[in-house]
Amino acid sequence: METSGFRYLDGQLHCDGMPVSEIADEYGTPLFLYSKETLLRRLAAFREAFSDHDPLICFSVKSLANISILRMMAGAGCGFDIVSGGELYRVLQAGGQPSKTVFAGVGKSRPEIEFALRHNVHMFNVESESEMRLIRRVADELGCRADVAIRVNPDVDAQTHEKTTTGKKENKFGIDIGSARRLAIETKEFSSVVLRGLHVHLGSPIYDTTPYERGLAKIAEFRGQLAEEGIEIDTVNLGGGYCMSYTGEQVPGPASYAEAMAPGLNEMGTDLILEPGRHVAAPAGVFIVRTLHRKTTGDGKTFVIADGAMNDLLRPALYGAFHRIWPAYSSDGMPEVVRPDDDNPGGGDTEKVDIVGPVCESSDCMAKDRAIPRVNEGDLLAIFDTGAYGYTMSSNYNGRPRAAEVLVGANGPVLIARRETYNDLVVREELTAI
Ligand SMILES: Cc1ncc(COP(=O)(O)O)c(C=O)c1O
Repeated sequence: METSGFRYLDGQLHCDGMPVSEIADEYGTPLFLYSKETLLRRLAAFREAFSDHDPLICFSVKSLANISILRMMAGAGCGFDIVSGGELYRVLQAGGQPSKTVFAGVGKSRPEIEFALRHNVHMFNVESESEMRLIRRVADELGCRADVAIRVNPDVDAQTHEKTTTGKKENKFGIDIGSARRLAIETKEFSSVVLRGLHVHLGSPIYDTTPYERGLAKIAEFRGQLAEEGIEIDTVNLGGGYCMSYTGEQVPGPASYAEAMAPGLNEMGTDLILEPGRHVAAPAGVFIVRTLHRKTTGDGKTFVIADGAMNDLLRPALYGAFHRIWPAYSSDGMPEVVRPDDDNPGGGDTEKVDIVGPVCESSDCMAKDRAIPRVNEGDLLAIFDTGAYGYTMSSNYNGRPRAAEVLVGANGPVLIARRETYNDLVVREELTAI
C-alpha cells in the first residue's frame, strides 16, 4: 500500500491520517471512501512519467465520476475521456473544459453528438463509418466543425480479462486498419469533419508494456500510410488501461509504459492524449462495509455477510475480480501482499470465509474461501483498490439504495455523495393504474 493513503496505524485503518472507523460511524456503511492526496499524487506521478511528451491527460470519467472528484481533477489540469452525454454533463457540472474532453464509445446517439458539438468537445473518437456519417450530418446542420480521431482496432491482444479486452478484431470497439484507411480518405472530402487523430484503447488492466508498443507501432505505420494520402495526423491518443496492483505485488508503473512508448512517440512527434482511469483512481478508494451476520454451515463453511454487496461493488461478480479485504481493526495491520490463493496471508491467526452481501444472487460474493482475521457481527471490513469502477458501476438491484461517497482531504472527510434514500428508489416512477 505504499502508494496509497490508506494505512494501518495503531491497529486501525486510517485514510490520510483519519481513522476509518470514525468516518464510518459518522457517514454510515456501506461507504466508498477516497483519499484526495492519493488521487493527486498518482495523477502527478503519471504526468511526470510522460512529461517529455507533454500529454493531455484525459481522466477516464467511467472509472470514478463524482463531480467533486472531476472538479479536483480538472483543477489539476486534466481533461476527460467520456463515453456518453451523461458523462459530458458530469464534466460540465464539475467545471471541466469540453475543449479538453474526448468522446469515445461505439454507440453515440444523435442527441449525444449534438450535445458534444454544441459544447465544442476537443475530439470525437469515432468507432464506425456510420458514426462518422452521423457526426458529419449533425455538424453540417449546426454549421460547425467536428474534430475527430479514428479509434483504430489494431488487433492486439492486451493479455487481460476476456471481458475487458477491447483491441482484438473480434471486439466491438474501433475500426480495423483497412476500413479506417478508406474512411479517412472519404472523410477528406468533407469540411465539417476534420480527421486529426488516431486513437487506440486496448483493454484494462494491462500488466505488460508490450501491447502498448505493438499498438503504437501499428498506429505509427497507419499514420505513415495516411500521410502518403495527404492526410496529416497531428494527435495520437493511446487510451487507458495502465495497471495498478490489486494484490500489492510489484507491477509496471507509469515510467515503464512511458519508457516503452518513448521511441514510437518521439519518432511521430505528434500531440499525445492519454486516458488513465484505474491506475490513478483504484488505489485511492476503499469500500467500507460492516459485518451484519456470520453463519457457519453444517459442513463448517463460514459466510461473513456484510452490508455492502454486488450492487455496490460489481467487479467480483462481473469479472471474478480480486480485491484485498481486511478488517479495519487489525493489530498487525494488513500484509503488504495478499494473493487470491494465499492460505494464510501475513502468517497470523486467520480463518477462511466467504465474504458475501445481502443480494439474492449466489454471485454476490466479494471473496471466496478468503483467509482473513476473524470478524464478528458489527466489525468493519475494508475492500481495497475500489476507487475505480466501484461506485460508477453500482445499481439499485434488490431495492438497495446506493452507498455514500466520502472524500478525505487536508481538512478531513467531506461527504461528496449522500447515501440514497428509499424515496430515491421510486422518485422517477409514476404510480398509475392502467
Ligand atoms: C476508451 C477508453 N479510454 C480509457 C479507459 C480507461 O481505462 P483504465 O481505467 O483502465 O485506464 C477506458 C476504459 O474502459 C476506455 O474504454
